[in-house]
This record gives sequence, structure tokens and C-alpha cells, in this order.
Amino acid sequence: MDEAEILTIAVRSDVQNMGIGKSLAEKHILNLNYAGIKFIFLEVSEENKNALSLYNCLGFHVVGRRDGYYAGPNGKRVSALTMKLTIP
Ligand SMILES: CC(C)(COP(=O)(O)OP(=O)(O)OC[C@H]1O[C@@H](n2cnc3c(N)ncnc32)[C@H](O)[C@@H]1OP(=O)(O)O)[C@@H](O)C(=O)NCCC(=O)NCCS
Repeated sequence: MDEAEILTIAVRSDVQNMGIGKSLAEKHILNLNYAGIKFIFLEVSEENKNALSLYNCLGFHVVGRRDGYYAGPNGKRVSALTMKLTIP
């Protein structure tokens, strides 16, 4: 198989927005590429602006949307975006 899925990535809150998440993800993507992976998928809440910034800057593109996929605060439903990265 030449596909992989990222389930989650997290950086400790007091050191976020310092490049750690991007560096971690880039190394992981490189390792997946060495393993023969060409396409990487993930799902992210459309309200998670930090994660969307990270995935966008890594080259992921939105390829789908699941309406009301996540349970948000106060019972509100939040949609998930499916994103895909094609490794050249
Ligand atoms: C999403 C997460 C992993 C990003 O990790 P990070 O180390 O903070 O991100 P980085 O510092 O590497 O930033 C990566 C990009 O996102 C942008 N970004 C990250 N946090 C941001 C913020 N608070 N405001 C604006 N931009 C932000 C950066 O500017 C950078 O873009 P650039 O290279 O074009 O400048 C981190 O915010 C986190 O752990 N969040 C909680 C868990 C989560 O939501 N995980 C993802 C869901 S699966």
C-alpha cells in the first residue's frame, strides 16, 4: 500500500507555534516516504485553526468534508475536513 493516515499530532501547549509541530511532521513524512508512502490523509476539525495552518504549510489540501463529525463544546457539532498530501 502507498497510503498512510495521520491520526493525531500534538505539541505541549507552552511550546506551541515555535516550529516543533512542523519539524515533527516533516520528519514523519520523510520517514513515510522512505517506506514507500505516496499519499497521506488526515482529518481535522474545521475550527482547529492552528492545525489547519500546520497542515496547509506542509502542503496538505482539503479533499473532503464530513458535516457534524466531531462533538464540540456545548453539544455543538463541528465538521471535519479530510486533507491529503501527495508526496512528489
Ligand atoms: C497543531 C499543533 C500540533 C501545531 O504544532 P506547533 O508546534 O504549534 O506548530 P508550528 O509552530 O510548527 O507551526 C506550523 C505552522 O502553523 C502556524 N501556526 C501554528 N500555531 C499557530 C498559531 N497559534 N497561530 C498562528 N499560526 C500558527 C505556524 O505559523 C506555522 O506556519 P508557517 O511555517 O507558515 O509559519 C499544535 O498547535 C497542537 O498540538 N495543537 C493541539 C493538538 C491538535 O489540535 N492537534 C491536531 C489535531 S489532529
